[in-house]
Amino acid sequence: MRRSVVFLLVLLILGPALLFAGGRQEAAEEPSGDLKGEVEVLHWWTSGGEAAAVEVLKELLEAEGHTWVDFAVAGGGGDAAMTALRSRAVAGNPPTAAQVKGPQIQDWAAEGFLTNLDPVAEAQGWDNVIPEVLADVMKYEGHYVAVPVNVHRINWMWVNPDVFEAAGAEIPTTWEEFEEAAEKIEAAGYIPVAWGGQDWQEATVFETILAGVGGTDFYVETMVDADPEAIDSPKMIEVLETLRMVHGYTDPGAPGRDWNMATSMVIEGDAAMQFMGDWAKGEFVAADQKADEDYIAASAPQTAHQFLFNVDSFIMFEVDDPADKAAQRAMARLIIEPEFQEVFNTYKGSIPVRMDMDDEPFDIPAKKSMRDFAASADSGDLVPSMAHEMAVDRAVRGAILDTITTFVNSPNISPREGAKMLADAVRGAAR
Ligand code: GAL
Repeated sequence: MRRSVVFLLVLLILGPALLFAGGRQEAAEEPSGDLKGEVEVLHWWTSGGEAAAVEVLKELLEAEGHTWVDFAVAGGGGDAAMTALRSRAVAGNPPTAAQVKGPQIQDWAAEGFLTNLDPVAEAQGWDNVIPEVLADVMKYEGHYVAVPVNVHRINWMWVNPDVFEAAGAEIPTTWEEFEEAAEKIEAAGYIPVAWGGQDWQEATVFETILAGVGGTDFYVETMVDADPEAIDSPKMIEVLETLRMVHGYTDPGAPGRDWNMATSMVIEGDAAMQFMGDWAKGEFVAADQKADEDYIAASAPQTAHQFLFNVDSFIMFEVDDPADKAAQRAMARLIIEPEFQEVFNTYKGSIPVRMDMDDEPFDIPAKKSMRDFAASADSGDLVPSMAHEMAVDRAVRGAILDTITTFVNSPNISPREGAKMLADAVRGAAR
């Protein structure tokens, strides 16, 4: 069902209550800090690394006397969680906090569902520590309605150095080098690429290839502006040719595979590499692997200067009980505190959303990510991830994901046809 239809339904059912809640979005009366309440938290962090990370938040909140009710909906990338959230909202019973990202934050706020987090933001000075490009996503009409948790980078390549060595292959920095390495790895009896055959994972690899092959301007034209003319172009054909070439080095077990199972293949030495955002690092950490020894975190080919960002965040729904509101406030505050930012991000594979933190306690990939974030912001190569809902609206993203997955799984569709299909799908969704 299209998002706009869902919101219409929600409005019909909850109309009067929403009008009231909408009014309250402006006038936030602060609950007393002594009250102890409950937060029900919707999220999709269920892999080893993700679960360890979310536990940090739960423990900090419980240490302050609040109650955490876990509403975990498994499914990487969060599409299943978003479906669950919409059905709870339609039933008039949303959770108190939910992991929601990018432009969707604005949608929920526009419908009057969200509580105003300005009092917490002002007390902690969020505007002084969170980069504007990320803070803007958290605000609706100038007010904070979401709290950012972290910054993930999409365009990574997770490498098992032993497999590369056994195959006599070099870690690639271009797609041409990738092909040479993949040939050697395959000949040596390993799976070159650990691939999760789910639409959002295929879109993750697609946008990574697109950024490198097409360049940052092309990325913005196609994945942010979703311009059908730029999409139906020779550059896109080249991107799809590369995607097909890379897909040729995966194994027959790929369809339907979860991303963390693909990461395990690299950890176990069955596969040489995986293209995935740095939540994959959480799996290496959970498996006690050391960066630059057991695994290498490299930029995906041709994207060393680029940073495709993906920021996790929580929206908070309007609640009546002052104690529950106090618990919500505590959750928002704890998320921004340096203590949480350091420990959570170490498990999660991401980097802090606050820019005033020392990188000393972080590991090699996180330090690299922090440096690359700053450098890409300076060079104009810091761009939002389409696959992870930072760039286009849900309908356009859905159209891109459907088309890319169809293309990847239909060898009879040529890259030229694929580029045209993609442009048509985007045109249809944007209507
Ligand atoms: C992303 C999310 C990450 C990670 C990943 C896999 O969209 O931002 O936090 O959980 O999905 O589930």
